[in-house]
Amino acid sequence: MVREPDEQALLARFSRRYQSATSGLMRKIERRVRGSDYGGTSWTTRREADGMGEMLKLAPGTRLLEVGAGSGWPGLYLAKVSGCDVALIDLPLQGLRIAKARAARDQLAGACGAAVADGSALPFPSGWFHAVVHSDVLCCLPRKLAVLASCRDVICADGSMVFSVILVTPGLSAGDYRQALAGGPAFIAADTTYPHMLQRTGWEITDHADLTAQFLTSVRAQLDEEEAHAEQLAKILGAEETSELLKSRRSRLAALEGGLIRRELFQAVPVA
Ligand SMILES: C[S@@+](CC[C@H](N)C(=O)[O-])C[C@H]1O[C@@H](n2cnc3c(N)ncnc32)[C@H](O)[C@@H]1O
Repeated sequence: MVREPDEQALLARFSRRYQSATSGLMRKIERRVRGSDYGGTSWTTRREADGMGEMLKLAPGTRLLEVGAGSGWPGLYLAKVSGCDVALIDLPLQGLRIAKARAARDQLAGACGAAVADGSALPFPSGWFHAVVHSDVLCCLPRKLAVLASCRDVICADGSMVFSVILVTPGLSAGDYRQALAGGPAFIAADTTYPHMLQRTGWEITDHADLTAQFLTSVRAQLDEEEAHAEQLAKILGAEETSELLKSRRSRLAALEGGLIRRELFQAVPVA
């Protein structure tokens, strides 16, 4: 698959981030801000992950797929607390290697597989999974409809999908829209709404929640922690990447405080 330079650059950044997120400092910040310790790059908190697990009715014997799993948050965690089987897919190998090592350490009750694969061309049989989860993944890739269609293909008739996504607040002026794009993840822009995308790809929404307030709290706390530890972070990430990171966090916080971007949760089931 041919990828645009922006997409390649984002994937390379994720790959580096999964490695650096194993450092003690970054794990400490992650635990304080989101309550997780998997090296996550999404804004999913532990409480939200618990809610996702309940919505998906995970239990031993359930087959869960996490798309864009990074180093295993929240898929591995959900497998650990529920005993379900889990398949993790992502494009950077680095994160998946870290996830596999964690799965081995945690001695999960169910099976855990990990594969480098594109969420828009999932390498699994139709109807194989009972549950699909993804955390802030659709805002990190351009082919959103293709990913939702591919997830639709691999879900079984009575399965369900839960995902969070960061999006631009509808109805902004041109200037605010530009600021929203600058403050959001690289592929926050979408041609249409998520409800419309879900409907077009054969999904029916069964639950929909606004997570923006928690997102704002988390971004503030993350920025506070990173500013307080900027010198140590520069030793882990390098001076240039640390300065880019802080700049992008500040612009995200400004976009959030201005009401320009949001974070939402969807649960959807396949339409027969
Ligand atoms: C915000 S991160 C979330 C990762 C992880 N679930 C977490 O919470 O830490 C988004 C992930 O989507 C992945 N991604 C981007 N494009 C993808 C694609 N086409 N197929 C699968 N994963 C993709 C990225 O590599 C990245 O790991």
